[in-house]
Amino acid sequence: MKQVQWLLRSGLKCALALALVAPLAGWSAEERERGVGDVVYVPTPQVVVEEMLAMAKTGPKDFIIDLGSGDGRMVITAAKKFGARGFGVDLSDELLAEARANATAAGVADRAEFRKQNLFETDLKQATIISTYLLPEMNEKLRPKILALPPGTRVVAHDYHFGDWPPDEQKTIPVPEKIVGTPGISYTYMWVVPAKVGGRWTSEFKHGAVATTCEFEFTQTYQVISGSAKIGAQTVKLPDSRIKGDQIEFAVLVKAGDAATRHEFHGTIKGDTIDGTVSIGSGSTAKQLPWSAKLVAAAAGAK
Ligand SMILES: C[S@@+](CC[C@H](N)C(=O)[O-])C[C@H]1O[C@@H](n2cnc3c(N)ncnc32)[C@H](O)[C@@H]1O
Repeated sequence: MKQVQWLLRSGLKCALALALVAPLAGWSAEERERGVGDVVYVPTPQVVVEEMLAMAKTGPKDFIIDLGSGDGRMVITAAKKFGARGFGVDLSDELLAEARANATAAGVADRAEFRKQNLFETDLKQATIISTYLLPEMNEKLRPKILALPPGTRVVAHDYHFGDWPPDEQKTIPVPEKIVGTPGISYTYMWVVPAKVGGRWTSEFKHGAVATTCEFEFTQTYQVISGSAKIGAQTVKLPDSRIKGDQIEFAVLVKAGDAATRHEFHGTIKGDTIDGTVSIGSGSTAKQLPWSAKLVAAAAGAK
């Protein structure tokens, strides 16, 4: 049901997205004509900029790239209020000049740079955070490039989604003065680029002198994983679980006679290895053991 509601709202938002390119009551022709390229210029309200940066947990170690940077507010706020660095790209000379002047006025010109560049051709490798306020089809076109970035890279978007990639977090923010998209409301979304884990993995954990071998078959769709686990002689279905960046966490019940013991796996995915712990049992009697896994065969064509 939730998915249906999300799809309906996405459809509605696609229609509203078209309103971004159509003449808008209350938005002067001069303002609409300031954007250059694939979408007109509409600034993200400042309260929403700050909420997006907070959702991404922006900090001094971050490097943000704003794709279609307008007057520069996203990168400038990230630098001034959150201590980050970064750059914005736009195709409008006028907006780039305004963004640079705004960065100088805010005292962050050394940490907030603005480049004349097509956002589809921008090298994203430096980014720990990507931000967008673009049409849904533009976000979708960018999606493969973003999913290829290191696990843990955050993506924040104003009003529009990235196709069927479900957000890790979303918020609805009342913005009474907003007249574009859904009047009076801004939607903000945050995604974390997931590590690739789809495929077959073998692993082992030792309980005293007893070694238990396991085999996992993970099916991955973006950050959602499912599949099966063979623990000792038993094969169990994995419940749908989520990975966040390079962190994996899932739990299975392993039967022994009439009893079932909870096995809770936590780990960090680093290429073809996972290192972490397995917690066996529950409550104060649970035992935590080191756990590691090795990739045997990666799944082909996983999202
Ligand atoms: C909706 S505005 C968002 C501005 C800013 N990111 C914000 O949230 O306030 C989109 C911006 O993208 C720019 N733009 C459109 N197509 C572009 C492209 N292909 N490459 C770079 N910038 C582009 C426009 O000039 C406009 O400034």
